Amino acid sequence: MLFGATHCPTDPHRPQYHFLPPANWMNDPNGPIFWQGRYHLFYQHNPEGPRWGPMHWGHATSPDLVHWEHLPIALAPTPGSPDEGGCWSGCAVDDGGVPTLVYTGVTGERFAVQRTCLAMSDDGLLTFRKHPANPVTEPPPGMDLVGFRDPCLWREGELWYQAIGSGIRGYGGAVLLFRSPDLVHWEYLHLLYARSSEDADPLPTGGMWECPQFFPLGDRHVLLVSAIVEGRPGYVACFIGRYEKQRFIPETLRRLDYGADYYAPITQLDPAGRRILWGWSWEGRSPDAQEAAGWAGVMALPRILSPRPDGDLAIEPAPELAALRGRHHALGGGAVDDAGLLLSGDCLEVIAELEAQGREVGLRLRRSPGGEEETLVYYDPKTSRLIVDRERSSLDPAAYGGVHGGPLALGPNEPLRLHLFLDRSILEVYANGRVALTERIYPSRADSLAIAAYAPGGRASLRSLEVWELTSIWGGTR
Ligand code: FRU
Repeated sequence: MLFGATHCPTDPHRPQYHFLPPANWMNDPNGPIFWQGRYHLFYQHNPEGPRWGPMHWGHATSPDLVHWEHLPIALAPTPGSPDEGGCWSGCAVDDGGVPTLVYTGVTGERFAVQRTCLAMSDDGLLTFRKHPANPVTEPPPGMDLVGFRDPCLWREGELWYQAIGSGIRGYGGAVLLFRSPDLVHWEYLHLLYARSSEDADPLPTGGMWECPQFFPLGDRHVLLVSAIVEGRPGYVACFIGRYEKQRFIPETLRRLDYGADYYAPITQLDPAGRRILWGWSWEGRSPDAQEAAGWAGVMALPRILSPRPDGDLAIEPAPELAALRGRHHALGGGAVDDAGLLLSGDCLEVIAELEAQGREVGLRLRRSPGGEEETLVYYDPKTSRLIVDRERSSLDPAAYGGVHGGPLALGPNEPLRLHLFLDRSILEVYANGRVALTERIYPSRADSLAIAAYAPGGRASLRSLEVWELTSIWGGTR
């Protein structure tokens, strides 16, 4: 059943070049895989309404990572089976030529029974049949776990490895490691890694880890976990470290995205060996507003992760996104007054270079002519942080506010390089190739469209500004 958004091309908050289902609810990206020349992406989907519910795997395909086409739902709960309560998150693998979805089947009161299941396709990813041996992995006996879900698989030689998101009751988040010769028979090895919920240096990582992602990057390994902190989905923790004797030894910990609205990412290796990252941007407005809209949940743009020489992570939008570029506007350098109008629009890509000369500097987005609504993106040199301030993004009380940010240490002559993707209610901010922030904003006024300089009490020194109007990723009118 489709309703709401599909028939509402004028919804001012519905993104035009970010992937989302035709209508209703989406959460985590699942099982991204490049198969027979096309990208396939699945996602947690409730086809019954714009709220979390019985989980299905929605499915879409793209020739280029950017333009998408919806395909029929890939997985639905089967009554009386190990996934009767929902087909929760997981990955996709190539099992000797057979594309196989490896997902979490849930049953029981409050979804307490969580186990790994398999579904294979014999027709090039159009339809899937569930494996008769399901479930293929269960929690090891004797462990007191608060969850057991979201399998992440990889191969080492002849064997499959499976990492499972979990938490050890009374201790903290954990990732369990299993091994199998055939995807069906799994042996529990040990913890890949676990961390006390009391350890807050430099960040607390909570008591349950969802959606673990474990992969090599450069000469290190990366472990991403979506941390439930204080009982609620919190943020994506990114550990970088070493993988030795089938155990992970972290060396650094940072947030993957410093915005309020990014969670449950999954990665894939593309044919060129790039590590592509997909993530879910939840809504930043009340459940009632989501119901009224008829849709909820957006896929953040594909990002490329790569190692930086300083040991940190580079995180940048996929270059393929340039295919969306329409009309181009370029402004030369010079001093710009605070709040001086530069351009306007709500479906844009912006690349701005600003000189960070000891004062706060950045851009005002989605600003109304009188400044009643605006979203600030700026660098604060006193704290060396990149900030998104959405306290005044919307006059609508249903929209959430907040000031969010993350560390960005600029070198002595390094300008602030902002790369922004604004798509109606979603804003993705990339800065200097190493920081990403995802935020949802819902300006209420039709004239909240201006882009202006932000340089409180002074002028901004603009090196350059380039703006592209971006086109829709859908062929039709959506
Ligand atoms: C993360 C998550 C996963 C789970 C899925 C259920 O957002 O809670 O742990 O598999 O969503 O929809």
